[in-house]
Amino acid sequence: MAETPLADAMVLFGATGDLSRRMVMPSLYFLDADGFLPEGFKILATARAALTREAFLDQVHEVLKARPEGVDEAVWARFSKRLDYVACDATSAAGLAELCPHLERSKRPMFFLAVSPSLYARICGALKQSGLATPESRIVLEKPIGRDLETSRQINAEVGSVFDEERIFRIDHYLGKETVQNLIALRFANTLFEPLWNNLTIDHVQITVAETEGVGERWPYYDEYGALRDMLQNHMLQLLCFVAMEPPADMDPRSVRNEKVKVLRSLRPFTRADAQSSSIRGQYTKGVSGGKEAAGYETERGQASGTETFVALRADIDNWRWAGVPFFLRTGKRLPERRTQIAIQFKPVPHSIFGNAAKDDLIANRLVIDLQPDEDIELLLMNKAPGISKGGMRLQSLPLSLSLLRTYEGPGARRRIAYERLLLDVIHGNSTLFVRRDEVEEAWRWIDGVADAWAEAGMAPKPYAAGAFALIERSERAWLD
Ligand code: BG6
Repeated sequence: MAETPLADAMVLFGATGDLSRRMVMPSLYFLDADGFLPEGFKILATARAALTREAFLDQVHEVLKARPEGVDEAVWARFSKRLDYVACDATSAAGLAELCPHLERSKRPMFFLAVSPSLYARICGALKQSGLATPESRIVLEKPIGRDLETSRQINAEVGSVFDEERIFRIDHYLGKETVQNLIALRFANTLFEPLWNNLTIDHVQITVAETEGVGERWPYYDEYGALRDMLQNHMLQLLCFVAMEPPADMDPRSVRNEKVKVLRSLRPFTRADAQSSSIRGQYTKGVSGGKEAAGYETERGQASGTETFVALRADIDNWRWAGVPFFLRTGKRLPERRTQIAIQFKPVPHSIFGNAAKDDLIANRLVIDLQPDEDIELLLMNKAPGISKGGMRLQSLPLSLSLLRTYEGPGARRRIAYERLLLDVIHGNSTLFVRRDEVEEAWRWIDGVADAWAEAGMAPKPYAAGAFALIERSERAWLD
């Protein structure tokens, strides 16, 4: 892969918003703390709010102070020198003219759009007109790219008329998570798993993203999207791709993303019959979450809503490796616990030689990859229970956990924010962990099929009490506890 020159500045649109404050600014600060930001790299924050530079810096400083890591004042002194704030209306070239004097020395700025996707096209158009979008500049977009295939195509076409695909970085922050990248290492840096990674040995795969938080103030966005479009279209299908893809030739962005697209193209279209037999839509009603009373979704929303806050469904990948291996995906808000997990359930041994004594003890192997709240990889193996027993050999399952072996190198080692890795990759122009246009569109194609099947089957979300949803068993396989 040819070396791409480093970005020399970042322009952050929507700088006063939640994403910027919680994720982007702290990530940039930590990158600076670890010496990863290029020398002279400037960060120009912008939003409509008429703030002075000092007021904006105070806000960022407060946010950093409130984090568990606290602020290293020496790092802050260096970091804050990079920061500037300019208020502007980013949707017109005239508005963006405010930024031009601050970017005169920058040849390769990266533009991060932490704004509503409905503004992407207008901002890109204005970047072109104002001359800020140069042949070497980059654009970073957050999900959701559209609400369906049609709208995602429109956005992609409009952004693509200003930036070449190689310079468009579509973020799915799950790909910045350490354990997701470790899945690539686990699969392709070991010979142990790959020969077993197929329908001969694997019974099924479960991917769970359970959250205890409700939708709360985010309902104006969420009500239009629901769990299917907010989580499944992007984060969960990306996890599915990493589990299911063929070994790429190398870690080049093209190689990895080509393999992911093949998986998405192999997803079996969802039908109306599948909607009823292989999917669940739910919506939380009032209940108790974290020991406190929690309002129902419709109360937060302020009116009746047909939007799902929980979805579970079975996906099938029609190719040689995965034929007959269901992938069960489930995600929801206001569930009893927070857990993000991928579980690879292997088949039982074909025949037990251990007789009746051990019959009930014999459990099929399972590989569990925990992403949140803990990071771990656990392999469930059978072994002999120590000691002697009258009725023959007793077995026990032994979970082999890699968490003890996982270390974060260096002093003050800590778990990084997913955005740190991703921002660093944009600076270096490496798009392996970003989502290509055809990936987004293939994912939407399949998700549109699910939404259509639900509509045809007239499937309204079933109510579940906040904090008290027993994740339902479906098909002959059971969800893990
Ligand atoms: C976002 C969704 O993309 O991911 C949110 O819009 C969700 O609804 C969040 O809560 C989950 O991210 P994480 O990293 O906390 O699992």
